[in-house]
Amino acid sequence: MSADITIRRADLTDMSDTLEWRNDQLTRQMFRDDSEVFPDDNEKWFRYAMKDDRRNIFISQFGDDKICMVRFDEFELSRFDVSINMNPSWRGKRLSKRVLADYIEFLRTFKTVELITAEVKNINIASKKIFIASGFVFVREDDEYCVYEKVVVS
Ligand SMILES: CC(C)(COP(=O)(O)OP(=O)(O)OC[C@H]1O[C@@H](n2cnc3c(N)ncnc32)[C@H](O)[C@@H]1OP(=O)(O)O)[C@@H](O)C(=O)NCCC(=O)NCCS
Repeated sequence: MSADITIRRADLTDMSDTLEWRNDQLTRQMFRDDSEVFPDDNEKWFRYAMKDDRRNIFISQFGDDKICMVRFDEFELSRFDVSINMNPSWRGKRLSKRVLADYIEFLRTFKTVELITAEVKNINIASKKIFIASGFVFVREDDEYCVYEKVVVS
């Protein structure tokens, strides 16, 4: 793991920051559901997700600053779908590839990981770049989305 960046599991103290990042304009444009998320709905979702062993939500920090959130949803045993959202104030610093690699390493410390999939909007150039640079391969195009996969070897 990169020395200056730490990763931990998300907890309820991350609820408002991650809601703010989720409602950021670029995030909404890049996510499948582009509607604004309201605090009550977010709280329900977040509390439920915290108890669901198939959802693995992590936060990376630089010192006390939260820089990024990732969610690995285990849709089948050892198979995960990934979604990443960088704190808007920390975007454009070329940190995403390194943070994604750290997240995968962190996930592997307590889960068996065989496959990770990512669904990315065609227009999301930055996201496509980081998945390709991180060893994901293009699998198919579904309407306005590209699907990528990474086989993780133990
Ligand atoms: C996708 C995301 C995590 C990337 O993080 P970032 O901090 O913006 O990107 P980085 O600074 O690490 O740059 C990653 C690469 O994308 C490129 N890039 C960044 N913004 C770009 C843009 N607007 N257009 C084209 N390329 C861009 C960078 O140059 C870099 O490529 P390089 O290494 O070949 O030079 C971040 O933009 C984000 O959270 N976006 C909103 C949510 C989202 O789209 N999530 C992904 C859903 S699948």
